[in-house]
This record gives sequence, structure tokens and C-alpha cells, in this order.
Amino acid sequence: MSFFTTRITELFGIKYPIMQGGMGAGLVSTAELAAAVGNAGGIGFMSAIQWDKDITKFEDEIKKVKDLTDKPYGVNMTLFTEVPKSFFVKAIEIMAKHQVPAVESSARKPDPWMKLMKEAGIKVIHKVARVRDGITAERLGADAITVVGTEEGGHPGAERVSTSVLGPLMVDSVKVPVSIGGGFCDGRGLVAALAWGGEAITMGTRFVCSKECIVHPKVKEAIVKMEHTDTDFILTSIGDPVRALKNPVTQKILKNEFRDNKTELMQTLIPIKTQNDENRMAVNTGEIESGIVPAGQVGGRIHEIKTCQQIIDDIIAEAEVVLRKLSERKYWKA
Ligand SMILES: Cc1cc2nc3c(=O)[nH]c(=O)nc-3n(C[C@H](O)[C@H](O)[C@H](O)COP(=O)(O)O)c2cc1C
Repeated sequence: MSFFTTRITELFGIKYPIMQGGMGAGLVSTAELAAAVGNAGGIGFMSAIQWDKDITKFEDEIKKVKDLTDKPYGVNMTLFTEVPKSFFVKAIEIMAKHQVPAVESSARKPDPWMKLMKEAGIKVIHKVARVRDGITAERLGADAITVVGTEEGGHPGAERVSTSVLGPLMVDSVKVPVSIGGGFCDGRGLVAALAWGGEAITMGTRFVCSKECIVHPKVKEAIVKMEHTDTDFILTSIGDPVRALKNPVTQKILKNEFRDNKTELMQTLIPIKTQNDENRMAVNTGEIESGIVPAGQVGGRIHEIKTCQQIIDDIIAEAEVVLRKLSERKYWKA
């Protein structure tokens, strides 16, 4: 038992309350990344839907992660409506066969998948961007909830509520443990999340800039160089909000998305959203000016590409210093 032991570290059997959220939109959170995060004491989630066209590759990915680590790992199931239900059913069967310990589900109500996952003995953390969705997921049987604020890279909520508001609100609204995501990259953030009652942090953008992440080097360089103001929040008009690196494409989308006529928006979007056969999208091809590259505002605070081990060690070391300094502060009454 250490200071960093929480109900989430106990749920997943991990050393530190640090989670790598699943990342699709091309190949981002693969077996290599999940294994590296797991070996460093956190838990990483590989994305399942990147293999929706060939489920055997999903099974290969699970075998790969088991070769790379004997530590806990997980699979992210982003329950997009455009992915056939049969894919998720088969994915759960494969996970049951390989005794996958954990799933991070997201994107919509986890019903009816929750029942299947629980029957397969999988621990489920469901990720939401609204408090009411977290309450529903708890009712449906989620073992834990991740709540993400508008800062996050990927798919924040359309309501644009910040992590510092959603985190404590979610903690106060459910009994199961909560991981807080959106805007974290260091030990100060971890201590803040614990102070809000969170029992872990979930990071995406920080792990994109890890040595083990498969994305194109141009993506990592762009995040390391970006300012915190260099993201755009796009596609709320079609109910699919995305936070991504600001570029000519996101600017064009913003210009067109609130027009009555959606033709120009769809013309910009369709070639970008269509994955090619190898599931390689802008994050893998390096087309950072002509594609969509999801990234969070926290990119403005990330200045170095490190190994997952260094990322997690540095967070824990900084958190310990912050905690010591806070405990040494003199308390006085006015
Ligand atoms: C490149 C990228 C792709 C992402 N794709 C997904 C996804 O497919 N499914 C999902 O649930 N979350 C996705 N996310 C969100 C992350 O899992 C995580 O919740 C988020 O990155 C945390 O916020 P941060 O970026 O501020 O660290 C993505 C994030 C990034 C940066």
C-alpha cells in the first residue's frame, strides 16, 4: 500500500493511478503502447475499432500485448454507431477467450455490451463527458467511470465543460471510483485530480508523445511545438465533437459547419474520415496539414518525447515533491 494506492489501482492491480486512454483515428494505441504503460506501472488501453475490418488482427494484437508484458492491460471499445454490433460481440468473445482483464468503453451507453463484458469477467471502466452518462453507466454495472473535460484530445463532450468542473462533480455523483481525464501531463495534475476525489488520471495526448507510440514523428513534433491555444473544437454540428490540432482542414470545417447547407462540410470530411485498408490516417501518414490529428490543449505543456517509463516516473516523482511541499506549508488562521 502506498500513497498512490486507490480503488482504481486495486481494481486493475496496477502500481500507479495512471491510465492511458484508448486512441483510434488511425493506429495510435497499439499493443506496444499498452504494454509500455503497463510495464511502467499504469494501465494502457489498446483500441479495438481500428481492427473492425479484420477481427483476426484484433486477436493478433491481444496476443502481441501478452507477449510484451505480464502486467495488466486493457482494450478500448469506442462504441461508435457506425461500427456493426456484430464486431463488438465478436471482440468480446475474443477478449473472453484471452481473459483480457480490462475494458475502457466509450462513445455511447454501454448497454447491452456491459452485460456481455461482465459475464466474460472483464473489469469495465466507462468513459463519459457528461455527469448524467456516468450515472447511467454506474447503474448499468460499470466498475469505474472516467470523466473527461473539454480540454481533452479526441472526443470531448459537446457541452464544453472543463475537467476541473466535471471531475469533482462526477466524483460526487457516483459511488464507483472515478478517473479524471483531459489536460493532464504531470505530477501537479495528478495531485489535483486526487484532491478532487479522483482515483486516477487518464491521459492521451501525453502518451501520443511517447517513444513507444506508433504515430508519425511529425505528429509528435507538432504537439511538442504547439501552444495550448493551437487546437480546434470541431464537428459539434454533426454530433461528433472532436478536439484536434488547428490546421487548414479544421479551420475550413469551422467555417462551414454551422451553415444550413452541409455539402461543403461533408465534402471536406468524407475523404478524411474514410480509413484506408491499413487503418492509416493522418496520425500515421504524417499529413498533419491535410488531415485531422486529434490532440488536447495540454499539448501546450508537453515539451519532450519520452519513454512511457520516463513519463510515469516523472509524474510520480513530481507528485511526491508537490505533496511534500504542500504538507510543509504553514497553516494559520486569519
Ligand atoms: C489521437 C487521439 C485519439 C483518440 N481516440 C479516442 C478513441 O478512439 N476513443 C476514445 O474513447 N477516446 C479517444 N481519445 C481520448 C483519449 O482516450 C483520452 O480520453 C484523452 O486523450 C485524455 O485527454 P488528454 O488528451 O488531454 O490527455 C483520443 C485521444 C487522442 C489524443
